[in-house]
Amino acid sequence: MSYPATRMRRRRQAPWMREMLREHRLHPSDFIWPLFVCEGQGEEQPIGSLRGVARWSIDLLVERAKEAADAGIPAIALFPNTADKLRSETADEALNPDNLICRATRAIREAGVEIGIMTDVALDPYTSHGHDGLIDGEGRVLNDATVEILARQALVQADAGADIVAPSDMMDGRVGAIREALEDAGHHDTAIMAYAAKYASALYGPFREAVGSGGRLKGDKRGYQMDPANGREALDEIDLDLGEGADFVMVKPGMLYLDVIARIADQYDAPLFAYMTSGEYAMIEEAAAAGAGNREAMLMEALTAFKRAGCTGILSYHALEVARKL
Ligand code: PBG
Repeated sequence: MSYPATRMRRRRQAPWMREMLREHRLHPSDFIWPLFVCEGQGEEQPIGSLRGVARWSIDLLVERAKEAADAGIPAIALFPNTADKLRSETADEALNPDNLICRATRAIREAGVEIGIMTDVALDPYTSHGHDGLIDGEGRVLNDATVEILARQALVQADAGADIVAPSDMMDGRVGAIREALEDAGHHDTAIMAYAAKYASALYGPFREAVGSGGRLKGDKRGYQMDPANGREALDEIDLDLGEGADFVMVKPGMLYLDVIARIADQYDAPLFAYMTSGEYAMIEEAAAAGAGNREAMLMEALTAFKRAGCTGILSYHALEVARKL
């Protein structure tokens, strides 16, 4: 077929026609909303590099969880800002059944909010050096010793009521170890969302400010997170994590990695999520604040692109706002 029999513009002539032909659309159920938790009562601590996002103390966090549920968001992801005095070389606080994240999880459960709770399995909110695992004398992150702790951390979180545990650490073998620990403890229904293809990205800065790990970090995370130059390698990561018992997999960051998402979506049937990271949130907010474009239009275009690339869902700090609008 060729012009003039085929006129592509015929399909774009009116809003109703475009609506009828749209291939992808966002829905509140597409979102997981990441939330930062801090100690205290009635505490709302704005995060400087993340305009519009705050840490919430548990009492206010429960309110946010209710709002999310009311807006149709299926799950929230919790990240703690651990008190300075509780951070250590060995991240012991990660295993405390009464740590901030466990108390927050129980509080949301006890309030009867009908929403999935996802907790972060990694040591960076608990280490004095800001790395996701234990380090040796040279500052190298130890794999197997870290995995052992991560499995226990996941168990502590599942005991507190987490529905999904999400290892964001990029140690080898951690999904298998976590799966085994959960099974042995009878947590057969606790799901694992693996940060399977997580890149050593420059887009995590505001998150590190939010959890308070940034200023501490010695060196970088390139010894365990993926090289941003690698696409094919992501398929190996997905393969391993699914093989070890991950229920869903994630690519992170999102906007600069849509090619990776599309490749995975083509080859795997497992639910696939993308994390629109703190740096990506900031890109949109700061561009809009500088007058570089319409904030809402930029945001919706970015989020829709995730669906077009093949995502099942998106972790986004914009989740509540967008779910309400939809
Ligand atoms: C660390 C972790 C990071 C994020 C989620 N979990 C940062 C890092 O790897 O240093 C980043 C999330 C974001 O930027 O929004 N376990």
